[in-house]
Amino acid sequence: MTIALDHGAVDQQASQPERSKRIGIPKEVTSGECRVAATPKTAKKLQSLGFDVLIETGAGEQAEFSDQAYRDAGCQVIANAVELWEQTDIILKVEPPAHHPELNCDEAELVHSGQTLISFLWPAQNTDLVKQLAAKQVTALAIDSVPRISRAQKMDALSSMANVAGYRAVIEAANNFGRFFTGQITAAGKVPPAKVLVIGAGVAGLAAVGAAKSLGAIVRAFDTRPVVKEQVESMGAQFLELEFAEDGTGSGGYAKVMSKEFIEAEMALFAEQAKEVDIIITTALIPGKKAPLLVTKDTVELMKPGSVVVDMAAAQGGNCEVSRAGEVYRHHGVTIVGLTDLASRMAGQSSQLYGMNLYHLLNDMGGSEGYTVDFDDEVVRGALVSHEGQVTWPAPNPEKPAPPKAEKITEATDTADAAVDTPKLSLPWKWIGVAFAAMGLIGIGVGAPPSFLSHFTVFILACFVGWQVIWNVSPSLHTPLMSVTNAISGIIIIGGMLQISGQAMSPTVILGAIAIFIGTINIAGGFLVTQRMLKMFRK
Ligand code: NAI
Repeated sequence: MTIALDHGAVDQQASQPERSKRIGIPKEVTSGECRVAATPKTAKKLQSLGFDVLIETGAGEQAEFSDQAYRDAGCQVIANAVELWEQTDIILKVEPPAHHPELNCDEAELVHSGQTLISFLWPAQNTDLVKQLAAKQVTALAIDSVPRISRAQKMDALSSMANVAGYRAVIEAANNFGRFFTGQITAAGKVPPAKVLVIGAGVAGLAAVGAAKSLGAIVRAFDTRPVVKEQVESMGAQFLELEFAEDGTGSGGYAKVMSKEFIEAEMALFAEQAKEVDIIITTALIPGKKAPLLVTKDTVELMKPGSVVVDMAAAQGGNCEVSRAGEVYRHHGVTIVGLTDLASRMAGQSSQLYGMNLYHLLNDMGGSEGYTVDFDDEVVRGALVSHEGQVTWPAPNPEKPAPPKAEKITEATDTADAAVDTPKLSLPWKWIGVAFAAMGLIGIGVGAPPSFLSHFTVFILACFVGWQVIWNVSPSLHTPLMSVTNAISGIIIIGGMLQISGQAMSPTVILGAIAIFIGTINIAGGFLVTQRMLKMFRK
């Protein structure tokens, strides 16, 4: 279902050419919030989509973007906040609407009917706010609810902010740590490298691994999802493992809640590590749940004096028993960092990335001219929390694809179902086929010349081995398989060349030429595809 946004009298719009939609960027009012929803660069990008951009005076100040920089980027700077909210069609913000200290009202009272609001809204926690926005006929999109699917990566503000925060967590740790991260051998003595343990290797965790590694530390990481092992190792860090057969992979790229036994085993591992490492950065979280407690008070007390714990999940209850949300303090000689505004502490960088996420979302929604709220767009539907007076959150679950058919029938009870699903040859026909094949082979064995027989045996064996190799290789190994087939194609080309060299035109020469042609296509195509895949992993 596609619903065109209606901002005003329809009759008037029919007669006049439609003006560009106006985007308003208010100054953030939440205390301590330094980010802004558009930088001069992203404001220019928004204009390239046909929007006019209006920004409240001083909105970018805390992120080091002056009013003049916005004017130079073609924005209109508005002094009066009320005017800005009134005159615009779409409001882009960072934080959810909050109390406006100067106007002494809630920002949710400033939005008007038909207006669109896009910001972090945390609809699960702010149900009253969502109802209020719906009652005011506001189209509200929670950027935090953009689904984590490949197509939406460029609009995924949670990930872009977690990336900045993970990096900043390492910087905060370094700031509170009295030693180098990198090891050094100097005239004054040898300095060992710092050891960093990252718990939870999601977006923030991987960013922390990368930052700590680039500062020269020895980095270890742990996660309940085994799939991240490769990512951690590819960044040069060590992945810690538990002898425990439980996979933490949940749905949508997130984790699932682990069993009590697993958490206990994990805690024991961290207590062991705490004696050795200098810095622990915790990022473990399952969306919508209180953060799991993983680093106990006793574990912190095992750490060497001067060590640092950065608890990134402090706002969600904390992964560390002694962390305090928003505070940095010392416990038993260990500095505990519970800051909850890590992304805002790098406001310039965060605003640029956040602004680009919003630009991509508005581009997805059709820009100024084609602006639509498309219920069939998985990204828009996932983020939409209120529309035309209705609360539209949570979005209905997308239809799951039909489960793949079982590849092997392992249990006798499955056989009946499988027989219905897969068309199969009935038993007598199967035996008749086998009998014909056997008779054919006997005929060839009796009648064919001996030289043909030896070639034929090699051919049959090659078909069998080739079939086994291709069919039994899992899709994840198809790239190395391609290299093997390249090698086989090389042999085929040599064989073909031997057949055609110095021969008069005959069926053998034609077959040899065809073999060379097909083998060449296979080799060239294989290299091309491999090259493309390798490019995806290069920076
Ligand atoms: P994410 O969902 O991408 O990563 C969380 C990771 O924790 C996942 O890889 C998951 O498998 C892992 N995990 C879950 N349970 C675990 C367990 N028991 N043991 C080990 N690993 C476990 O989340 P993202 O985006 O990386 O954010 C991480 C944390 O950072 C969240 O708590 C988020 O709210 C917080 N954050 C904090 C900021 C701040 O300023 N302090 C700013 C941005 C994010």
